[in-house]
Amino acid sequence: MAVEHTFSIIKPDATERNLTGGVNAMIEGAGLRIVAQKRIQMTRPQAEAFYAVHKTRPFFGELVDFMISAPVVVQVLEGEGAVAKYREVMGATNPAEAAEGTIRKAFAKSIGENSVHGSDSAENAQIEIAQFFSGNEIVG
Ligand code: CMP
Repeated sequence: MAVEHTFSIIKPDATERNLTGGVNAMIEGAGLRIVAQKRIQMTRPQAEAFYAVHKTRPFFGELVDFMISAPVVVQVLEGEGAVAKYREVMGATNPAEAAEGTIRKAFAKSIGENSVHGSDSAENAQIEIAQFFSGNEIVG
C-alpha cells in the first residue's frame, strides 16, 4: 500500500478538555506519523469554506459555530494507507456507534462534538491540507 497523507483536526471539544496529547498518542499508536501540526483559532470564513460540502445540511450552522468556539489542532498525518487507517482509528462519526479502542469511543461527546475530523479520500486530503498548510510546513 502506498504511503499517503491525510488531514486531521482535533476539534474544540477535545482541545478544551486538554486531550490533544491523548488523541496524538492514539494516532501514533496506530503507526501514523504527525508530519505537520499547529493549534489555531479557526475563523468563521475558514470553517464555512472547509465544510462547504455540508452547506445545505440542517446542522451546518451548528457545526460552524462549534468549530470556531475554541482552538483546534490541524494536522497532516503520514503512513501507509493513511486515509483509511485514520478513519479506522477515529471510529464512527456518531460515538454511540464507534468501536472500542477508537478515538471517538474514548473521547467524543456527541455526533457534533466528536473530537476529530479525518479526510474521507486521498483527493480530499490534498484539498483540505492545502487550506491550512503550505508545502514547507510539512516535514516527513
Ligand atoms: P466531520 O468528519 O468533521 O465532518 C462533518 C461533521 O458534521 C461531522 O464530522 C460531524 O461532527 C458533523 N455532523 C454530522 N452529522 C451531524 C448531526 N446530525 N448533527 C451535528 N453535527 C453533525
